[in-house]
Amino acid sequence: MTERSSFVVRDVASLRRQVRSWRSEERRVAVVPTMGALHKGHRALVTRGLEVADRVIATIFVNPMQFAPTEDFAAYPRREAEDVTVLREAGAHLLFAPDVTAMYPVGFSTKVRVNGLNEILEGAHRPTHFEGVATIVAKLLLQTAPDFALFGEKDYQQLCLIRRLVADLDIPVDIVGVPTVRETNGLALSSRNAYLTEKERKSAPALYEAISEAARAIVRGANIPAALEAAKERILSAGFGRVDYVDVRQADTLAPFEGGAGRILAAAHLGRARLIDNVPVG
Ligand code: PAJ
Repeated sequence: MTERSSFVVRDVASLRRQVRSWRSEERRVAVVPTMGALHKGHRALVTRGLEVADRVIATIFVNPMQFAPTEDFAAYPRREAEDVTVLREAGAHLLFAPDVTAMYPVGFSTKVRVNGLNEILEGAHRPTHFEGVATIVAKLLLQTAPDFALFGEKDYQQLCLIRRLVADLDIPVDIVGVPTVRETNGLALSSRNAYLTEKERKSAPALYEAISEAARAIVRGANIPAALEAAKERILSAGFGRVDYVDVRQADTLAPFEGGAGRILAAAHLGRARLIDNVPVG
């Protein structure tokens, strides 16, 4: 067996065999689920995984169930060879990269849905998205049976939904949230930033700037609807085509904001890309 083929595993039986063997040595296992096209944000998840566990499994699977027919499933960047290099450099121990038929064989008919978090914010604009996320994450957690699973705050609603999912289904795993990794100009790293033109890249940091300013204004006691409206205007005047939402919620539950620890979440379209971001309030 070559080194490469033992690093990349494509079937669940081999994955489980490896995890069982680590467990028999009392190694703690962490998993970092991704859709590939890896960047420093994903890398930070692997690094954090190595701090909490002895072995880190990354997964790469561009999950068709979480893309609507109108979305970018076909165009989503796929570059496994480069991703393997990134993961090895970051210190990951194994890559689980199944194909679509391994994850969704003929006859597959189950969906996992986290009511409430499923429909709001991102869910209002992408109605089938979070069922796809919840279903694949539940599968990946059951396949790897890890001690820890790491998710980025970049996808803040996804992180909240996964915490709810593992609590509701008693999946025995600790969910670890990792702060968003940004460019020096503030733009959150994302595989979808690859869709931006040179000119759009200059406008893109306005999303983060606008919601950061709104967060500061809310902490200062400004009128909340006015602060959110000002953020929307700033995003649009930077050259974004449409703002799907800019909203402030309770940081832990994403219920309507009533003070205390809050989170501003936003989504807006820039050229071909749809960017999301979020920041803490207070
Ligand atoms: P993907 O977009 O590839 O992201 C994989 C993980 O990396 C997620 O937990 C995401 O929040 C985190 N991440 C992305 N950009 C980040 C950044 N700039 N800083 C920190 N973390 C970042 O999210 C998904 O894939 C999928 O929905 C998945 C959970 C894998 C299910 O298919």
